[in-house]
Amino acid sequence: MQHVKYRTRDRCMIREIAIEQLRVGMYVYDLNLAWQAHPFAWQCFLIEDADMLRKIVDSGIARLEIDNELGVDVGVTDAKQEPEVQNEPSSAGPTIIAKLSPAEQFDFARNLYANANRLMQGIMQEVRMGKPVDLAQCQPLVDNILDSMFRFPSTLLPLAQMKTRDEYTFQHSVSVAALSVSFGRVLELPRREIKEVALGGLLHDIGKATVPGKILNKPGKLDDAEFTIMKNHVVRSAELIRAMDGISEIALNAAAQHHERFDGTGYPQGLKGEQISLHGQMIGIVDVYDAITSLRVYHKPMPPTEALQKMYEWSGAHFDPKLVQAFIKGIGIYPAGSLVRMDSDKLGIVREVLPEKILQPIVQLIYDCKRLCNIPPELVDLSASDDRIKSHESFEAWGIDQMHWAEAGA
Ligand SMILES: [Fe+2]
Repeated sequence: MQHVKYRTRDRCMIREIAIEQLRVGMYVYDLNLAWQAHPFAWQCFLIEDADMLRKIVDSGIARLEIDNELGVDVGVTDAKQEPEVQNEPSSAGPTIIAKLSPAEQFDFARNLYANANRLMQGIMQEVRMGKPVDLAQCQPLVDNILDSMFRFPSTLLPLAQMKTRDEYTFQHSVSVAALSVSFGRVLELPRREIKEVALGGLLHDIGKATVPGKILNKPGKLDDAEFTIMKNHVVRSAELIRAMDGISEIALNAAAQHHERFDGTGYPQGLKGEQISLHGQMIGIVDVYDAITSLRVYHKPMPPTEALQKMYEWSGAHFDPKLVQAFIKGIGIYPAGSLVRMDSDKLGIVREVLPEKILQPIVQLIYDCKRLCNIPPELVDLSASDDRIKSHESFEAWGIDQMHWAEAGA
């Protein structure tokens, strides 16, 4: 795959330093190396321990960039000055996540998700009453989604996948925001730009608050008049977002163009190809992926791998193929939280996917399909195993409780 790279610079918090100045607790913004040339899964990350620090030094680079808002700055050597750990994501302000155990990560992600759904529910209610949307209400939530997606994407994404019919619209908004962070990271966008895309993702469907429930939740096909009303949600979203004080063009375009399609068949403007902003295309891809993999009033969730196959087929017409490939690289062909069947005829839950090893994730084996019995859960890194994934499977078909295993993985 050709490497897709879109980036701009925001120098506010970024400092270029010599390798000798690098310390544990600093947040690497850019290693100034192509991703294939270094041993880390991401270009941006926190240096958590001396081992990570040594790996960077050993890679032979002379200078790199750090983000001094997300990590310690030059001259700070005391580990006590690293960001403090807070386990409860609050809606009052952004939480800086330093070191959390897997169980704490799960609790953090679950609380974040619950808070986010509540906030979106409140915002949509206010929109319904004709009130404007306050950007300050959304900022801490977006910061928390960004922090957790940068630190433990494999915990938040599977949770974001589990939706209920009743709360679909709120849950979908949060899920789209989280997925857009994974997408932005694989495109190597600056963190500030990813944050704006995620904000656009969070707000992309707020116009749906103005669509009558009987149309929004209709189990059957919409007639022409109903479809016209439904389509208008994008125009309403754009109006509401444009009216927000301090909103960026990135966030606005991300939301306003999420139903435009690469071949010009989308709406509301029928934009084509490059006429659609990168950010609008990103939310368009993420929106469709999340919608078809979720439980809806009119369809069952499609397993993530099948959804990605479909989207790959649709790319070229509906989406830019390069972007669909980058999206798949970000979440993996078998995304975290998926149920898979191995060559050994065992079932496992995908626990962690690294962009450079999307076919060889870390899998937790839980069931023996030959003997038809549960097995003691075992974590296997497929990049160091002879076993291979044979197929993706449905939790429902095997009667496996997805939430139980999301929690058990923590
Ligand atoms: Fe939409």
